[in-house]
Amino acid sequence: MKIMITGGAGFIGSNLAKELIKDGHEVIVVDDFSYGSYLNLNKNGKPVAEIQKISICDNKITEIMRGVDYVYHFAANSCLPICLSQPYQTTDINVAGALNILEAARLNNVKRVIFASSSAVYENNEKFPLKESDEVNPSSIYGVQKYCGELFCKSYRKLYDMDIVILRFFNVYGPNQDYTRQKPPVMSQFIKELLEKSAPTIYGTGEQKRDFIFIEDVVSLCKNLIGAENAKNEIFNVGSGKVYSINEIYEIIDKILKTGIKPIRKSAHEMYEGIDSITHGKSIKQEAVAKETNKFTQADISKAKRLLGWEPKTDLKTGLLASIEFIRGMVEINKEF
Ligand SMILES: NC(=O)c1ccc[n+]([C@@H]2O[C@H](COP(=O)([O-])OP(=O)(O)OC[C@H]3O[C@@H](n4cnc5c(N)ncnc54)[C@H](O)[C@@H]3O)[C@@H](O)[C@H]2O)c1
Repeated sequence: MKIMITGGAGFIGSNLAKELIKDGHEVIVVDDFSYGSYLNLNKNGKPVAEIQKISICDNKITEIMRGVDYVYHFAANSCLPICLSQPYQTTDINVAGALNILEAARLNNVKRVIFASSSAVYENNEKFPLKESDEVNPSSIYGVQKYCGELFCKSYRKLYDMDIVILRFFNVYGPNQDYTRQKPPVMSQFIKELLEKSAPTIYGTGEQKRDFIFIEDVVSLCKNLIGAENAKNEIFNVGSGKVYSINEIYEIIDKILKTGIKPIRKSAHEMYEGIDSITHGKSIKQEAVAKETNKFTQADISKAKRLLGWEPKTDLKTGLLASIEFIRGMVEINKEF
């Protein structure tokens, strides 16, 4: 199969690209490298896939997609505070960019598009675990952008009878996750700071629990979508179904690294501190930030188990050890340059 992965230099896309190539597929990575890295796609100093450095918003995408069978549309700006501080620019990428990919896929008769949505669309739901059939009513900029992307997927299914699968990722972690951005995902932040012997910050009580899933399990689900007839036009939660609190995550990482460093504790509404454009002008309601900090997530994954014969296999400690090894390696490489 000829497969395009947008955002393929990023965390999830690069891990998937490597596995699809191992399976004998031809992979084209589309990425503008606003995040992501060539290192994520390197093997013995050479790129593992064809790389097209281009934005998903560019019209040339249609031409690059010629002959492609499957498109995994993973490119996005998924940094919540950046989506808040740059709503227009990130909507251009997360919504208009997604539409550009759908349109290119239509023009090229692509067999299946897989759209990376997020558990953020379930925001404001109070019943757990979250099911794909639950109501979706997000209010964060990022959550609304992902929901808009889903709505365009639905529209393209109805208008053109296209096959578009939606994946609602929960908190994915593991090697190749970007630990260098201003607000990295929580596990990467803890690992990076504890490796540097500095104290990470925990916002709120730290008792808030989230559904974390290891990258290898996410990649195996993504691969199962190839040729899976019964996945046609379905939505799948991609989580582990298991929840851990931020304090528990901290304790496990600290125990593995044996630092004994105590975290700095700040209130939940301070989570976006330091991101200037959010605090200037009419500032975001403290309750809204605290709600995001304190949110609980848990996926019901019975649908993916039933239809795709998929099951997450990696326990938290094994996944964290792999994440630590990755970040430790990268910190060492960066020291050399
Ligand atoms: N990682 C998670 O826990 C998680 C959770 C929910 C949803 N998601 C979604 O899954 C997808 C992949 O997430 P990830 O963690 O790999 O993110 P990532 O930031 O590591 O990768 C995204 C990639 O998209 C690229 N990109 C951004 N804007 C682009 C543009 N205009 N044109 C081309 N490329 C562009 C970036 O350079 C980056 O390499 C995203 O759509 C994200 O919103 C991820």
